[in-house]
Amino acid sequence: MNARAQLPDLSHLWMPFTANKQFKAQPRLLASAKGMYYTSADGRQILDGTAGLWCVNAGHCREEIVSAIARQAGEMDYAPGFQLGHPLAFEAATAVAGLMPAGLDRVFFTNSGSESVDTALKIALAYHRARGEGQRTRLIGRERGYHGVGFGGISVGGISTNRKTFSGALLPAVDHLPHTHNLEKNAYSKGQPAWGAHLAEELERIIALHDASTIAAVVVEPMAGSTGVLVPPVGYLEKLREITAKHGILLIFDEVITAYGRLGEATAAHYFGVTPDLITMAKGVSNAAIPAGAVAVKREVHDAIVNGPQGGIEFFHGYTYSAHPLAAAAILATLDIYRRDDLFGRARKLSGAFQEAAHSLKGAPHVIDVRNIGLVAGIELAPRAGAPGARASEVFQKCFDSGLMVRYTGDIIAVSPPLIIDEAQIGQIFDQIGKVLKEVA
Ligand SMILES: Cc1ncc(COP(=O)(O)O)c(C=O)c1O
Repeated sequence: MNARAQLPDLSHLWMPFTANKQFKAQPRLLASAKGMYYTSADGRQILDGTAGLWCVNAGHCREEIVSAIARQAGEMDYAPGFQLGHPLAFEAATAVAGLMPAGLDRVFFTNSGSESVDTALKIALAYHRARGEGQRTRLIGRERGYHGVGFGGISVGGISTNRKTFSGALLPAVDHLPHTHNLEKNAYSKGQPAWGAHLAEELERIIALHDASTIAAVVVEPMAGSTGVLVPPVGYLEKLREITAKHGILLIFDEVITAYGRLGEATAAHYFGVTPDLITMAKGVSNAAIPAGAVAVKREVHDAIVNGPQGGIEFFHGYTYSAHPLAAAAILATLDIYRRDDLFGRARKLSGAFQEAAHSLKGAPHVIDVRNIGLVAGIELAPRAGAPGARASEVFQKCFDSGLMVRYTGDIIAVSPPLIIDEAQIGQIFDQIGKVLKEVA
């Protein structure tokens, strides 16, 4: 069968974060998914080494989630969330709150990670304003951070390709901590690198420059995924927590990737034993079966706004689809699976075998670092002279052609499979990457 003959017209869709011309010259189309596998449009089985886009933590097309969504779509397709509610929205918020660290039990629903980040930044500003500190408007992000694509998210984010086109329109009062990636000090770390906690002290320098009274929040990914799997150095997050608490600055963990089991706990905050004031999430909250996101907020932060001086609507923010009935149904079914199947525990148990399999690539052609935590690994390749990213792009393509989905960013290959993966499939992923590395120049 000629796969190309079956292709739809590719010209109208402007694809996100994609080299459109290149893709349309050599399309990769997925047709269906089940469990650990995609089936491509040309009928090939593809092992999902990335949980889609770090999001299908419970594996694909879980019956309980599919039927919960279908049932809800037939019962009540949509209900406005402004001035009206529906029971599932409240139940979903209760279920999310039940999985958050103690104290973060107020939940604002969004539809994506980007919206969660922008929502969290706004909550931070609203909190300080409600407490009579409306001058606290400065936000601190981190180099190489990824916080989605809203103007707030790219402003606090630290990936220059995502910022440069829009540089004149970024939020004005933003600073960035240095990133923690250092191959000389930390290459081939297993779990948290030993070196780098001192980089959190840069926050004191930034605070001294602007004065704490002007700073609303610090936002970081506890484990930076999209930039290429940067695991926080031992003691780093603790130091950020200590400094922010000392200066009355809110700490936001962007857990769009890490929440819901990626590190073997409900959140990275649990894993690292560091509790922020707000946690942003999306992806795994609904197993990506329906777009959904949320911000979990410390009760004091919520109460300062909701019990604050503003009468009537306390927080002028929200989305037509906040707590959409289908999303609420998907969230409830998803969180039920995580609990019933103990998928976070499963990830924790598999993380040792995953670590060893990932580090078996040390010494493979082009590999200059392997790093990992939970069920995430980053494999950094030496870039080709004058063509950064080209080698990893070829690895990605060859993996896909041979039945394995990985991700790449720059010259870093990322692996983050669904938490239902088994040891044999873990071995298969890294063996396959090893084979492909031998084939690329
Ligand atoms: C840490 C983090 N924040 C925010 C986002 C943006 O999420 P979305 O693409 O759902 O807007 C992502 C996406 O990968 C992410 O990894």
